[in-house]
Amino acid sequence: MKRIADYEGTLLSHVESLYRPGERELAIELVEALGCVVTDTGFKGDGADSFLAVHPNPEDQDVQNNAVYMSQIRPEQLLVEERLKQVVLQDQALAEAMEGYREVARTKPFGVPHFSLRYKSRKSIEAAEARLKSSLIPKLKDRLHLRIFYPDDADAAVGISVQGFLYQDVVVSGSFMMGQIIELQAPA
Ligand SMILES: [Fe+2]
Repeated sequence: MKRIADYEGTLLSHVESLYRPGERELAIELVEALGCVVTDTGFKGDGADSFLAVHPNPEDQDVQNNAVYMSQIRPEQLLVEERLKQVVLQDQALAEAMEGYREVARTKPFGVPHFSLRYKSRKSIEAAEARLKSSLIPKLKDRLHLRIFYPDDADAAVGISVQGFLYQDVVVSGSFMMGQIIELQAPA
């Protein structure tokens, strides 16, 4: 098998993501349900615990390329998120706007910020869906939604791909309040 490290061109190196305090194991459970493998980089930096590397390809665990890093949210960002949550609770118009955003993220996610994992086939996306349905979807309820678009669907964006959009707030590269879509993409 060709290793990603053998590729000599430029490519996407990694995505930096976060989990909440107390949700490290949950974050691992989520990415493992997606078919990824997690290794511990041992690097702690100024964080609360070590950085994890999520490998989309279990057979090529390169910590520098083709990886999503996960670490605990920094206290400074946590403070911002907690204050924003309070503001939303006290501002009905803002709460409705947030709900409008979440509804779009759940149902019409094209153009909502996300990153995407490439799968070999629609079957491998459906295997991930089955794993999520058996564990995390019942457990996390409204914190996790999966919508899969097939090329023949009337509201699909493109005819060449199967696109699963997982909207959740366990692993985010940005804001927990806004949540994060992880796309699962495979050739049609
Ligand atoms: Fe996408």
